[in-house]
Amino acid sequence: MLDFQLHMPTRIVFGRGEVHKVGAEAARIAGKALVVTGRSSTRKTGVLQKVLDSLASAGVEAVVFDRIEPNPRTNTVDEGGRIAREQNCGLVIGLGGGSAMDAAKAIAAVALSSIPSHEYITGNQTGRWKELLPVMEALPIMTIPTLAATGSEANAGGVLTHEPTKEKGGVSGPALYPKVAIIDPELTFTVSPEYTADGAVDMFTHLYEAYLVGEEDAHVQDFVSEGLMRAAVEWGPVAVKEPENYEARAALMWASTLALMGIPNSGRGGAFPVHAMEHTLSAWFDISHGRGLAILAPAYFRVVAEDRPHRIARLGRNVFGVQEADDRVAAEKTIKAMIDWFKSMNVYLKLSHVGITQDSLKPMAADAVRVGGRGAGFIQATRELREPDVLKIYE
Ligand code: NZQ
Ligand code: ZN
Repeated sequence: MLDFQLHMPTRIVFGRGEVHKVGAEAARIAGKALVVTGRSSTRKTGVLQKVLDSLASAGVEAVVFDRIEPNPRTNTVDEGGRIAREQNCGLVIGLGGGSAMDAAKAIAAVALSSIPSHEYITGNQTGRWKELLPVMEALPIMTIPTLAATGSEANAGGVLTHEPTKEKGGVSGPALYPKVAIIDPELTFTVSPEYTADGAVDMFTHLYEAYLVGEEDAHVQDFVSEGLMRAAVEWGPVAVKEPENYEARAALMWASTLALMGIPNSGRGGAFPVHAMEHTLSAWFDISHGRGLAILAPAYFRVVAEDRPHRIARLGRNVFGVQEADDRVAAEKTIKAMIDWFKSMNVYLKLSHVGITQDSLKPMAADAVRVGGRGAGFIQATRELREPDVLKIYE
């Protein structure tokens, strides 16, 4: 196991109906909050009003910024940062899916620094990839997830898209850890079957990537990852079919938080190649992140099945219940089991199904390597994925 340091400062308030605590929690931090949310769902479901009522009853003044689009854009974030600054907000509350929470984090940074948010994620144009500094200063952040997928509620990262250059990349740093995450699984009852499935695939991907690519002697992490992947595999299809099944929603919510909170992947190194390849898809075509991951997974698993069949075989045995002694055969059976799982949630798809055209594959492969490789010329995986490898996976 590699040496590692782990810092998990986010206090988690988890449970049915716990969203009503937002006012009391916010009042401990600031007297005025910017509530950052998406363009429609939190109004439709009534959760935005619940949050505003709770803040008002705790004496916290609220300013609502409800312009966050799925795959949040840097210019929207910059606008939010300006409003937080001008309104003297002492707290930023991210209410929604990963997009609203990620945007809230970046807004909290921009509010203090006044640095355009694209400078946090891009840099290759000025040859500064390696110099990108972590965010050390930001307004305090609270998160309230309404969708189980990204784990953004309790980690120090966010993902933004800079539309002019079609670059989608991360902003991260210690200041972006939310102070408090209020995780109320009931808020996810209204998530559509499509986004529920995409979210299950996203958390599954956060777990399998470093598991397949990283060090192989991180035994505790392996068991943790396998357990969390099993939760996604078992409860994803249940939540797709029974949206108001609390048991399923709670399992998915907690699995998604834990998947990207640091515990499963610390001490194994590894990389996130499928994320690097997917972020280009959603940057270019504005598709759902989890859907893009589902489309890429089978082709990527085939690459790993050549390089490390024993890791795919282990995943198959311990997550999908594959019974097969030979690693190469087990790896094939694992890919089939994963595809069957995707089919059970209607996310076994091709790029053409989400409107991605053949002629865009080559330039996207170049972009994925350029942006995802951060100047290295390849995306790190079980092997170095160069442009032709990425193109093959896309095809
Ligand atoms: O747009 P609104 O009105 O908010 O509606 C959203 C959106 O249309 C809707 N939704 C959310 N909660 C709902 C709901 N609809 C009904 N009921 C609810 N309770 O769902 C749609 C998708 O929301 P979005 O926030 O975009 O989805 P997700 O949570 O999957 O977040 C995706 C974004 O997170 C990034 C992705 O790249 C993408 O930009 N990621 C963030 C990570 C992180 N911070 O750690 C890691 C991930 O790997 C990922 O890259
Ligand atoms: Zn993801």
